[in-house]
Amino acid sequence: MRNDLETVISKYVDLKRAGSNLVGCCPFHSERTPSFTVFPEKNFYCFGCGAGGDVITFTMRIENLDYRNAVRYLADAAGIPVPEENTKYEKKEVLTRERNYEMNKIAARHFYDNLMSPEGKPGLEYLLSRKLLPSTIRHFGLGFAKNSFDDLYKTLIQKGFTTDEIKAGFLCGISSKGVPFDMFRNRVMFPIIDVSGHIIAFGGRVMDDSKPKYLNSSDTPVFKKRSNLFALNFAKNSCVGAGNENGKAKSGELILCEGYMDVIALHQAGFSGAVATLGTAVTPEQARIISRYAKTLYVSYDTDEAGRRADEKAIKYMNEVGVDVKILKVTGGAKDPDEYIKKYGPEGFRRLMNGASGQIDYQLSEIISKYNLDIPEEKLAMINEACTLIAGSFSEMKREVCAIRLSELTGINKDAVISEIKRKTIKKISASKKELEKNSEESLRHYGDKINPDALKNIRGASTEEQILGILLLYPEYLENINSEIICESDFITEFNRSVFSSLKKAYNESGTENFDLSLLNEYFSPEQMSRIHKMYRKRRELTVNDINTFCELCSVLKNEKKKLEAPSADKMTVDELEAYVHGRRLSVKSENTHI
Ligand code: UTP
Ligand code: MN
Repeated sequence: MRNDLETVISKYVDLKRAGSNLVGCCPFHSERTPSFTVFPEKNFYCFGCGAGGDVITFTMRIENLDYRNAVRYLADAAGIPVPEENTKYEKKEVLTRERNYEMNKIAARHFYDNLMSPEGKPGLEYLLSRKLLPSTIRHFGLGFAKNSFDDLYKTLIQKGFTTDEIKAGFLCGISSKGVPFDMFRNRVMFPIIDVSGHIIAFGGRVMDDSKPKYLNSSDTPVFKKRSNLFALNFAKNSCVGAGNENGKAKSGELILCEGYMDVIALHQAGFSGAVATLGTAVTPEQARIISRYAKTLYVSYDTDEAGRRADEKAIKYMNEVGVDVKILKVTGGAKDPDEYIKKYGPEGFRRLMNGASGQIDYQLSEIISKYNLDIPEEKLAMINEACTLIAGSFSEMKREVCAIRLSELTGINKDAVISEIKRKTIKKISASKKELEKNSEESLRHYGDKINPDALKNIRGASTEEQILGILLLYPEYLENINSEIICESDFITEFNRSVFSSLKKAYNESGTENFDLSLLNEYFSPEQMSRIHKMYRKRRELTVNDINTFCELCSVLKNEKKKLEAPSADKMTVDELEAYVHGRRLSVKSENTHI
């Protein structure tokens, strides 16, 4: 993440901008017209020779290094010290991930029980005064840390945790006299839960004006603030396969806000796609996670200067991972979404969302403000830049809307703007058509497949496998919800795809949800094999139906393919067997039509 792919590749390849991508001549085969492409989500692909991957794959290949040395090389370049012996680290680990999860679960239960006990009355009263419903308090598992130095500590010791473990999990500190004390005291507690349902951290708020207002777990074995989002565990369900019922977020939309209370108020008002970055601007890691779930992100940061800077960061990082951003500004004397909803209700917030200015408006005004429109040359340059922007990324309807907007903003004749955008769009479309043709030709060429020679045996099966793996590469957390009846190693027909499946599982189990990155697979595969893996990921990413049901259906399609391979020939089958066989095939054809 610290080695920007564009910067690294630029050392070897002369890159030029083409829409949201960069292109250049491929360093891995000889060519004169550039087909080597660097994408905003930080990976590359050559449409000429099929080379592809991330910054590690690129370094392995171009510097001819193995995985470990490529990582070392990149770490050196970024000034990150490389831990020498892996085993040393494991020995030092005082708190394992599993124990950390277990400890947090007990703590959350304890805080919740506190809140419901007579001693928790101040906490409960505070939360009710903030207009939270009892059902909301239960849904989010809110709790109360008593005004005591050892209430939680004693409980955890009693459950068999050591002081060192409790400290490593940020639930106690040690005083200068060596006495352990509870970290969270006299605060209402907000558990942070990851997408797999583990409790990974806590935030605690004071009930008056004392400081710090919120205390949060710092990094622990299971929590990295940079790569987690509050309430994503709930919000993700509003994205995957969810409908567009009243109040609920539309499929693929998330709302990003600053704080715990904003998120909770939004969920309570029916906006279940709300998540929070917990007081900081969005990080590239969080952007990557958001892109797994959302096509559009509404950003609702505070209206102050810090909030505006955070908006800009959000546009930048979300663009890099291909998510559209809409900037939402609360008005009318409210400071944040929580206050806004209290004043204007859910309908008010829905109106705000509908009126949120898209990044196009934001970017157009940025471009316009760069130039002095009184000077003809500058005005022309501005129109050129703005039209290129509009031609780049939108549907025809959106282009039309943007053209009108640009003409309003600049006073330039609407038709002139429209025809300029059309010209640029046509140029762009013909370029991408060529790219597509090259692409499909290539995908027909399973023949002579060196990476996966088995694919020839069963093209349909291999392609289903690639769909399955593509989804898992996008949503590795599905691995937590599927058992070997849905899919396991032995369901795979081709050797290579089977090895991708088992390595993915291995890497995921070792890293855990929040630390997982496709890059980890570089350890198990050659750069050529990584190229294939990235291709599966890329293809599937372009589709919107990647929910768990589609995934399961693809798995059953694969099982049917496998059965067919093993099936006896028709003349040896009984009528019943034949019927079952035909029925199975019909099923598989049907689901392919609907989903692939
Ligand atoms: P805000 O100060 O905007 O608070 O901080 P808020 O969310 O509106 O909270 P209420 O309404 O006063 O209860 C936004 C977020 O920044 C983080 C928290 O995650 C908070 O939700 N923050 C703020 C901290 O971590 N520590 C602080 O001391 C303050
Ligand atoms: Mn607030």
